[in-house]
Amino acid sequence: MRTTALPQTDLSPSAICLGSSNFGNGIAPADAFQLLDAYVACGGNFIDTAAVYANWLPGEKNSSEKTIGRWLARSGQRSRIVLATKGAHPELATMHISRMSPAEIVDDLETSLRNLQTEWIDLYWLHRDDPTRPVAEILDTLHGQVLAGKIRYFGCSNWRVDRIAAAEAYAAQRGITGFVANQMRWSLAQIDPAAVGDPTTAAMDDETYAFHRRTGLAAIPYSSQAGGYFQKLAEGSEIRPGQQKTYGTANNRTRAARVQALAQETGYSVSQIVLVYLTNQPFATIPIVGCRTVAQVKDSMSAADIRLPIGQVAWLAREDR
Ligand SMILES: NC(=O)c1ccc[n+]([C@@H]2O[C@H](COP(=O)([O-])OP(=O)(O)OC[C@H]3O[C@@H](n4cnc5c(N)ncnc54)[C@H](OP(=O)(O)O)[C@@H]3O)[C@@H](O)[C@H]2O)c1
Repeated sequence: MRTTALPQTDLSPSAICLGSSNFGNGIAPADAFQLLDAYVACGGNFIDTAAVYANWLPGEKNSSEKTIGRWLARSGQRSRIVLATKGAHPELATMHISRMSPAEIVDDLETSLRNLQTEWIDLYWLHRDDPTRPVAEILDTLHGQVLAGKIRYFGCSNWRVDRIAAAEAYAAQRGITGFVANQMRWSLAQIDPAAVGDPTTAAMDDETYAFHRRTGLAAIPYSSQAGGYFQKLAEGSEIRPGQQKTYGTANNRTRAARVQALAQETGYSVSQIVLVYLTNQPFATIPIVGCRTVAQVKDSMSAADIRLPIGQVAWLAREDR
């Protein structure tokens, strides 16, 4: 499986990252273990989790991190995995109250280390932003954790591009490594941020895309399959109301028709073509996939080595960007 040298780091994550947002509660621990085993067997080494994952479901608190921690302990895979987790997320009941003080960031990190049964995190994400906090305070806190050996590198998730630029400028001025990657909602499907209905999240937009092109900052997009929207349209399966609201536009139906035509022409699956749109970008881009079954893991992972002519990839989204 192809790996991607992550700019500004010595990490070589695989070209597809495995997400884990419902591990432990929505996806039972034994099933999550099977997904993790299948992912590693396909050559994957990049796992994405977060302290808050699966806390929206009944069951154990922090169950995604704890499930992955148990799997790491059992499998003996820790040293070959690029382990990424996130902290500084608001409490779910009070999403308007940020939790990004230095003490909260450090406290979340300590909890994640315990849950994951590890001494270090390879890539630590800030799950949200609080634009009222100075970037200097945030980066100094994270850099302190790098110096303490608790994290190797850090990145931002759901940050606006002006804040990312300010953070990178501060890091350059201080002579430290700043954000090495940006995790945002991004897939072949266009979205209207208003339809997502969560102002604390951020999606790829033209300005952010131009920033990545200019600076070479790596993108690690989530919801990279648009929740299976293209697959479901191709199968004629039911589109859930939430998905319809977020993705159900005429423009995305045009894109879906192109995906199906290209799948027919190349013999690749619909979900592979959707991932190839991201893995064939002009800057390092590693999509996070949210697989529910082992078959989906295998299908997604086989997209990693597919290369398509740049014109074909651009055609999928032409006239919109
Ligand atoms: N930073 C953040 O704020 C943030 C936010 C959201 C997610 N994430 C991360 O990103 C990960 C992925 O997010 P997501 O679940 O929204 O992403 P997604 O990959 O867009 O959606 C997952 C769904 O897509 C379908 N699917 C996936 N692979 C498929 C395949 N090969 N063939 C057919 N269908 C396939 C499945 O739908 P069915 O279940 O209907 O089969 C699956 O449940 C999460 O687990 C998490 O790690 C981060």
